[in-house]
Amino acid sequence: MDRKAQHFWDWVAGMSHAPKRLGRVPRRVVATAGRHLSPESVVIDVGCGPGDVTVAIAARVASVTALDASPGMIEAARETARRSGAGNIDFVAGDIDALASREARFTAVTAFNVLHYIDDIPAVARTVEALLAPGGLFLSSTACLAERTTVVSGLTRLLTKLQVMPPTRFFAKRELTAWIADGGLEIVAVERMSSLPEYFVVAKKRG
Ligand SMILES: C[S@@+](CC[C@H](N)C(=O)[O-])C[C@H]1O[C@@H](n2cnc3c(N)ncnc32)[C@H](O)[C@@H]1O
Repeated sequence: MDRKAQHFWDWVAGMSHAPKRLGRVPRRVVATAGRHLSPESVVIDVGCGPGDVTVAIAARVASVTALDASPGMIEAARETARRSGAGNIDFVAGDIDALASREARFTAVTAFNVLHYIDDIPAVARTVEALLAPGGLFLSSTACLAERTTVVSGLTRLLTKLQVMPPTRFFAKRELTAWIADGGLEIVAVERMSSLPEYFVVAKKRG
């Protein structure tokens, strides 16, 4: 993530210091993820943001490493976890790109509402593959904004062009799943989460 994007997310984080009640789509994302997780799961949540979704995931698993490239978001997520009483979350400020050489010990990698901010998704998928234990799952939920022209996609294009928002990628579900597969992961399921449309993709590390 470049410095400008980091400043943007730090600025957003400054407005997100209290745990929030999850909206309908994040609740659906957490429930869908929950079907693939267990109390033994060891999870890394990439792009955890202010941590509301991370805390909901942490309640269902053994432990979560919350990763975000924005130090402001990590601070907000730490505060969300503290106020929610979640004691099984570690916090790491850093870019997913820097994690390639980490030990492959996670049973699940989650990335919710983040892949469309990432420039090289196949490279991230390779990093995810390296982080996962054999048979581990990559659970992502991502807006595929190239599939439909909506108010949200129009506004996103405008705000990205005006450089108010960080670069946001427009792609279709087919491209997203192909990039995840390019990283060496096997696509197991794809489910539509919202009318954006946002898709939940389950992918598995072989072996
Ligand atoms: C829209 S927020 C999503 C937050 C949370 N996952 C959720 O669903 O509510 C996107 C987050 O991804 C983070 N992010 C973007 N690119 C990243 C990267 N390359 N590595 C780590 N975090 C990244 C941003 O800092 C931001 O906090």
